[in-house]
Amino acid sequence: MTEAIPRPVSRRGLLTGGVLATGGALAGAAAVTAARADRPAVRPPEATLAAEVGTAVEPFYGPRQAGVATEPQAHAAFVALTLKPGTDRAALGRMLRLLTDDAARLTQGRPALADTEPELGLLPARLTVTFGFGPGLYRAADLDDRRPASVADVPPFRIDRLQPRWSGGDLLLQICADDPLTVAHTQRVLVKDSRPFATVRWVQQGFRRAAGAEPGRTQRNLFGQLDGTANPKPGGPLETAVWVPDGPDWLRDSTTLVVRRVSMNLETWDLLGRTDRELAVGRRLDTGAPLTGTDEHDEPDFAALGPDGLTVIPDFSHVTRAHVTDDRLRLLRRPYNYDGIPTANGTADSGLIFASYQADIAQQFLPIQRRLAERDLLNEWTTPIGSAVFAIPPGCPAGGWVGQQLLG
Ligand code: HEM
Repeated sequence: MTEAIPRPVSRRGLLTGGVLATGGALAGAAAVTAARADRPAVRPPEATLAAEVGTAVEPFYGPRQAGVATEPQAHAAFVALTLKPGTDRAALGRMLRLLTDDAARLTQGRPALADTEPELGLLPARLTVTFGFGPGLYRAADLDDRRPASVADVPPFRIDRLQPRWSGGDLLLQICADDPLTVAHTQRVLVKDSRPFATVRWVQQGFRRAAGAEPGRTQRNLFGQLDGTANPKPGGPLETAVWVPDGPDWLRDSTTLVVRRVSMNLETWDLLGRTDRELAVGRRLDTGAPLTGTDEHDEPDFAALGPDGLTVIPDFSHVTRAHVTDDRLRLLRRPYNYDGIPTANGTADSGLIFASYQADIAQQFLPIQRRLAERDLLNEWTTPIGSAVFAIPPGCPAGGWVGQQLLG
């Protein structure tokens, strides 16, 4: 994390601190005031009524699991389990039948079987439960030959400071809903029913804006950036980039998930001026527009030169390094913010639960991660501290269970 900043960028004044930081902060304050003045005073028609948030339902059964292409809910818990010795293929079948039944009921606003708090199961708030299979699950089931080849530990990168307590896992339960109590209750039910088969390895809880707070808007992370702008859109690129189109029935309509816990150093980020923050990522903070455009969804022009003869979007900005032109190689990012307890002296424990779905980790995620690890200005303020990979198997029809194509 102490990599020297490449010279062309340092000429722009990036990381020069002091004067720039103050000027940037002033410019930032002006921009925020302007943005406030633009804000509509009335609720836009598409905003969700508060009363509808609790009762809204996402379908559970179907060829693909929910919770991937689903419009991200406000709250998430990523729960990774370690299988107990003896949890073999038959036991995994029993476990997944049980957990599928729990998920099928709770997502539709019905309490789980023998739910000890049935009242907590009545408001699904768009609950989805997405099951992910880590490399260890295939080994435990003696089915390693059916593991998608790219579902293997992400190789180490020099920017990594990975901690075992945020890494790995045999079975993932990704629980998302627009209500945190629904997430907590679902987590409780699923963990309780997993107990005979598995132990809890880690849980990562994350959040976005409350449901209906900013309808239709790209979410913001704790650096204040719009995060998710370049995601592939449903119907088009998302189809080819995310879902496995063919193959045996345990692969068709599956995808893969990479979860990286990335800590964000808000203390040093605070020292940067607004201009420098925008140069680091290559997009504006207010609109999310690329530095070469005016609208969030304008195409960035990575070749455009400024009066100083340098590219307007720095060559080592996050978006320059992360950008891909082939739609099939894009990632669907569905990140959540985390904000832990600050230290006694007020140092934040904040960051991003980076979650990306792609048809193939080796073809799509790894080349991007490699380029970012090599040179990405954001690395100065971000550190990966956890890493896990999962296959997201296909969904199941009513009465079926997730994993049946693989384990049944
Ligand atoms: C704390 C860590 C991170 C932060 C704060 C962050 C932030 C951002 C922001 C603000 C954008 C621009 C808006 C957008 O298109 O969403 C972006 C784009 C992107 N990021 Fe990240 N990111 C982080 C980590 C990662 C990681 C680990 C990867 C993958 C290895 C990644 C891949 C991408 C990709 C593919 C894009 C779209 C680039 C394009 O085509 O324009 N990001 N990120």
